[in-house]
Amino acid sequence: MAKGLDKKFGLDGKVAVVTGAGAGIGRAVCLCLAEAGAAVAVQDLNGKSAAAVAKEIQGAGGKAISIVGDASQAKSIDAMYQQAVDELGGLDITVNNAGIYPFTDFLEIDEKELDKVFDLNLRGSFLATQRAGKFMSRAGKGGRIVNVASVQGLRPTAPGVSHYNVTKAGVMMLTKSAALELAPAGIGVNCVAPGVIQTSGTQPLIDTDSLGNPAELVPYGERWGRAEEVADTILFLVSPAASYITGETIIIDGGYLLK
Ligand SMILES: NC(=O)c1ccc[n+]([C@@H]2O[C@H](COP(=O)([O-])OP(=O)(O)OC[C@H]3O[C@@H](n4cnc5c(N)ncnc54)[C@H](O)[C@@H]3O)[C@@H](O)[C@H]2O)c1
Repeated sequence: MAKGLDKKFGLDGKVAVVTGAGAGIGRAVCLCLAEAGAAVAVQDLNGKSAAAVAKEIQGAGGKAISIVGDASQAKSIDAMYQQAVDELGGLDITVNNAGIYPFTDFLEIDEKELDKVFDLNLRGSFLATQRAGKFMSRAGKGGRIVNVASVQGLRPTAPGVSHYNVTKAGVMMLTKSAALELAPAGIGVNCVAPGVIQTSGTQPLIDTDSLGNPAELVPYGERWGRAEEVADTILFLVSPAASYITGETIIIDGGYLLK
């Protein structure tokens, strides 16, 4: 790293928790924050994939633990932060990334699916932000929280995910509301809104051309995004370089929403 840049972007001595981190964007965020020097708690519903990501970080010389849990449940969220504090020594950064995006037409969505999407994407993000806020304000050292929304929370770009879109719009307002109330404790709360990112979750949709042609839809790059590109933006938001930014949402979509 160029001289001085480690002070702006380095995370030595910081502890980060990332939810839904066994795959896709969450995994890329863990690898990126660990590379910047943070000790990382890799949380996922799938214990095997969380353990694999933690192992990958350890193999590269970083510090990581894996946590099995459900990011839609308050009890599980509290236990996750407590485990990070107990085993890694604190809580400086949280990235609320876990989310699901089942495709169902608006008229066909039943209550069970509606609850599942709301419970994880919106209610879970609310609880994770609130509980992280409690842990961080109690410790009195400030902190950074990043929520993962979507361009779909700003504009419904495709049919079939109306419930998802509503949760992601909510996550952006959650970010602003929490940022206002947590600012006095020195806790910054920000958000990213990715466009289509190639992950294990979106690959089947990409393979069947369900999301359209990126060469036509994405002016900047003419391709779908990479998980690492979202991770790099999140690194900026949790780094010292973003010390005067809170309540903000950064769109990472190659200009998808410009069209
Ligand atoms: N991929 C995209 O195009 C895209 C675009 C915009 C926003 N996002 C958002 O980014 C986040 C990650 O998306 P992705 O594409 O990387 O997902 P993914 O499906 O590739 O991976 C999601 C991970 O979350 C885990 N998970 C699912 N339910 C969980 C729960 N209840 N508790 C803990 N972990 C759980 C899964 O096991 C999986 O490892 C989501 O919030 C998604 O809405 C994705």
